[in-house]
Parts: sequence; structure tokens; C-alpha cells
Amino acid sequence: MLRQLFIALSESQKMRAFAEASPLGRRTSRRFVAGTTVEEGMAVTRAMNEAGISVTIDHLGENVSTPDEARVSAKSYHEVLEAIRSNGLNANISCKLTHLGLDIDEKLCRELVCSLVAHASRDNNFLRVDMEGSAYTQRTIDLVRALHHSVGGADAVGTVLQAYLRRSESDVQELCAEGIRIRLVKGAYREPPEIAFPKKAEVDANFLSLTKVLLKSGLYHAIATHDERLIQQTIAFATREKIDQGKFEFQMLHGVRRDLQQQLVRDGWRVRVYVPFGTEWYPYFMRRLAERPANVWFIAKNLFRS
Ligand code: FDA
Repeated sequence: MLRQLFIALSESQKMRAFAEASPLGRRTSRRFVAGTTVEEGMAVTRAMNEAGISVTIDHLGENVSTPDEARVSAKSYHEVLEAIRSNGLNANISCKLTHLGLDIDEKLCRELVCSLVAHASRDNNFLRVDMEGSAYTQRTIDLVRALHHSVGGADAVGTVLQAYLRRSESDVQELCAEGIRIRLVKGAYREPPEIAFPKKAEVDANFLSLTKVLLKSGLYHAIATHDERLIQQTIAFATREKIDQGKFEFQMLHGVRRDLQQQLVRDGWRVRVYVPFGTEWYPYFMRRLAERPANVWFIAKNLFRS
């Protein structure tokens, strides 16, 4: 029930405007957000790299409402790619299509993502298209497919599939057949039972079964979870099937299970952390609370202490 409440709050525009403008809100968001500027995002990235962890950088934002806002988002991502290159950091980028205008002008969105993929490709870098709510699933997959088959796109773009969606089993098969790299996650949005498994046990079982397909595909995929049991089952499967440690990576979120991130690195596994920065942190932050409502008490305790 608390999960549903936080997800519903994450969609409230009024709460968002209020929270993002409040100094207390900004301080609170620091639990999961690297800061508001590119420089702060780079500083966290450098520290992660020094600890043997690679990074994917997200400039926070979603559902922009004007073409100019979409262009500003794209410009900021070009700056991030440039900062990664000039600082020699081990990082790529993660973008949401609604941050680049998908809701308002699909053609503009396509042009903006295309120019980012071209930039990433020139730098031998990579753009991951995050997956949003199910209203966007098919359009996201279609756009990523088109980008993957465009000049320079094959090694420079990939996307995310959500284990809670019933359709993901066939999406995994189809995208793997086309050579598209996938980040597998459980899924963070509110979806009806007709299209998404309602029970955690079903989502977890699907996550493991899709992980096995991904690991056997021979492509470089990402297994993104903090679920220790699923991570151990992934490691056991990779070991049994003699899949090399360099053939896939684990991914986790900034501020979540740092102990587990470091343990995996010590054990020789590849780990990438998702580092978000920016002023539009509210929906992202609320989804993190939805995943673990106990975070509310943890954050409140730390605010009280500091
Ligand atoms: P689960 O929620 O079952 O949690 C397992 C354990 O992990 C918990 O018991 C707890 O210990 C710990 N944990 C999980 N979340 C926590 C939190 N917020 N704070 C503290 N502890 C926590 N989703 C999506 O729909 N589209 C996307 O593009 C992405 N992208 C993405 C990238 C990366 C790198 C990650 C790791 C995750 C995403 N997600 C996502 C979010 C994903 O769908 C999912 O909501 C979260 O990863 C939480 O699910 P877990 O797999 O960790 O399992």
C-alpha cells in the first residue's frame, strides 16, 4: 500500500513544484541524487571510478512540455558527454525519452536522441534509453531499434526492459536477436495486472528467467538490481555456464547498497552505478521511496542528526 502511495505522489505536479523549490527538499534528495550541476555529477563519478565502479549519468527530468525544454535537456546531455570525454571518466549516459520531448513532438525527440547517439558513437561511448511507464514501452523500443540500425548506432545505444511486464519475455527474445543491449530491471511504475505481474514472487521469477536468456545471448547486457538473492542466483548461473566476468555487468542506483556494490567489485564482477543529478529530482526520488518505504525513516533520522 505504501508503495502505491509513493508512486501516486511521484505523479503529483503540485507536490513536485513545492518539493523541488524547497531547500529542505533539495537536502533530503541528496540521499539518492549527486547534486544539481554537471560538476557535482562528475565529482561523484570520479569517486566511483576510483573505487573501481563505472557509472551511467542521468540528467534528471521527464515529461517536458515545450520543444525548447526538450532542446535544453539534449544540450545538457551533450555537455555531460563532453565532460566525460575531457575528464577521461569511465561513464556513459542514461536518458528518458519524455525528457527529450516524446510527449510533445516525436520527430523532434527522434532528432535529439539521434544527435546524442551520434555524439556517443564518436566518443566510443554509449547511451542507454531508460524505460518509463507502459504508455511509452512500444515507442521506446521502436525508436531504439531504429537508432541501433542507423550508422554508428549498433554499439552506441541500448535500452531497458522491465521484468514486471508480461510482454518482456518476447521483447528480450526480439531485441537480443537484433543485437540490442539490454538493462534488465524489475520496473518502477504503477501498472495494471493485465500487463504486469502483480506479485513480487512472479516478478522475481521472471527477472531470473530473463537474466538467464540475457547471459546466454552472448551480448553485453546489464543486470540491474539490489536484490541479493537474485544477484547470487545470477552469479551461480554465470559460474555454472562458464560465462566470463567481463561478459556482463551488474548495475545499482547511487545511494543504494554501497556495501554490495563494493563486495561485487572485490569479487571481480563488473559494477556500474546510476548517478542522477539535476534540479528536477522529485519523481525519481519518490520512486526510490516507493521501492523501500523504510527509507523515509532513514532519511528523517539523518536530517535530524545533521
Ligand atoms: P527490490 O525492490 O525487490 O529490492 C531488493 C532489495 O534491495 C530491498 O530489500 C532493499 O534491501 C534494496 N533496495 C531496493 N531499492 C531500494 C531503495 N530505493 N533504497 C534502499 N534499498 C533498496 N526502473 C524502470 O522502470 N525503468 C528504468 O529505466 C530503470 N532504470 C534503473 C537503472 C538501474 C541501474 C537500477 C538499479 C534500477 C533501475 N530501475 C528502473 C528501478 C527498478 O525498476 C527497481 O524499481 C529498483 O531497482 C528496485 O528493485 P530491486 O531490483 O532492487 O528489487
